[in-house]
Amino acid sequence: MINIPKGTKDVLPDQSYKWQYVENAAREVSRVYALREVRTPTFEYTELFNRGVGETTDVVGKEMYTFEDKGGRSITLKPEGTAGVARTFIENGLASSPMPLKTFYITPAFRYERPQAGRLREFHQFGIEIFGSSAPQTDAEVIFAASSFLKKLGVKARLEINSIGCKTCRSEYNKTLKNYFAPHLEQMCETCKTRFEKNPLRMLDCKEDNCKKIALSAPRITDCLCEECSAHFKNVKNLLDGQGLQYTVNPFIVRGLDYYTRTVFEFVSDEIGAQGTVCGGGRYDGLIEQLGGSSLPAIGFAAGIERLLIVMENTGAHFPEADKPLIYIAGMDEETRSKAFSVAAELRQKGIIAEIDHMSRSVKAQLKYADKLGAKYVAVIGGDELANGGVNLKNMSDGTQCAVKFGDIYTYLTKGE
Ligand code: HAM
Repeated sequence: MINIPKGTKDVLPDQSYKWQYVENAAREVSRVYALREVRTPTFEYTELFNRGVGETTDVVGKEMYTFEDKGGRSITLKPEGTAGVARTFIENGLASSPMPLKTFYITPAFRYERPQAGRLREFHQFGIEIFGSSAPQTDAEVIFAASSFLKKLGVKARLEINSIGCKTCRSEYNKTLKNYFAPHLEQMCETCKTRFEKNPLRMLDCKEDNCKKIALSAPRITDCLCEECSAHFKNVKNLLDGQGLQYTVNPFIVRGLDYYTRTVFEFVSDEIGAQGTVCGGGRYDGLIEQLGGSSLPAIGFAAGIERLLIVMENTGAHFPEADKPLIYIAGMDEETRSKAFSVAAELRQKGIIAEIDHMSRSVKAQLKYADKLGAKYVAVIGGDELANGGVNLKNMSDGTQCAVKFGDIYTYLTKGE
């Protein structure tokens, strides 16, 4: 017996309708926000993530599925969606298309993490990326798109936002942080000591109790933003206020990936335990240039589909039922089974979910099976039916029957549908 790899999950046939429901909601939100789908490969050259996501991040430093292919190239399974979309944007010259370019994707992603509830090694993201606009309206729009997606699914999550500034004010802030942390460094964890050298901002994200306590009194980035970043953040907040979208400013939201600038945000649920962030995103105005493209602003988010499903299941969310056959057509012998086959084929051609016997069951067993499937109508074709050119259609919910010619079954089934 070969088991499923650790940290991965099967989606079984009786569960997949939940996934489709979430994915359909993602597509519907994307449609009304005029986002168009983009699909990028499951694997990329490792260099893309080293440069894009950042070598000091846990994702690149510890969690990537990296291997050498048979041609000796270093390949990595994508740990997130943004870097691949940014690459395709540059590679395909999309900067010359009308701006902004608004995209979305639904993709698997891979991170070698310690699995726990809501944390997998293969997981799935619905993400959006908008290129070309630096306007605060775009930040607000992206946050609204995330919020309406969650609302559509009935997922309650609090919105936390922050601004981590631009290259200029961040490097000043990093110096301020270093000054603050320097006298405490001895008492801090090894990760914080490394981050002190490489990326002090990330020290604010440490989960160790003692480090957290020290970070609590650190200078706040929101007090150290340059004039432009400060005005931008104020505008974003005004736009959210204007629409009555509730949020808190959390100066400890710094995000785990290096490409962010200015606005960052997370939607957090209390329903999953430690892994409560169901959606995270922000601006990344430097990434396109860093990957070899022109200097172009961008912003986006990604929501974890598995985490959303956990929240929805824990809160008893309503998932519309999976589709069931509208009609089950039973046959008795070779000739009538063959008729059932052709009637079903014709109905299927017209878009009706029709089912027939595949197991050589008796009529009684077929009817039992049809009931298990939840078929709305059942028709039994015997010798008389063949001779008469029609069947009795039985409505399984109220037991009523109606004689219908073979050629009229489609019209009968669809008249009240
Ligand atoms: P992220 O915060 O790393 O951001 O991931 C986004 C979401 O993916 C998380 O909020 C979470 O719901 C889900 N997620 C992350 N890791 C796991 C895991 N191991 N198991 C299950 N779910 C997980 C990004 O990936 C950015 N690319 C988002 C973005 C797009 N920023 C701008 N554009």
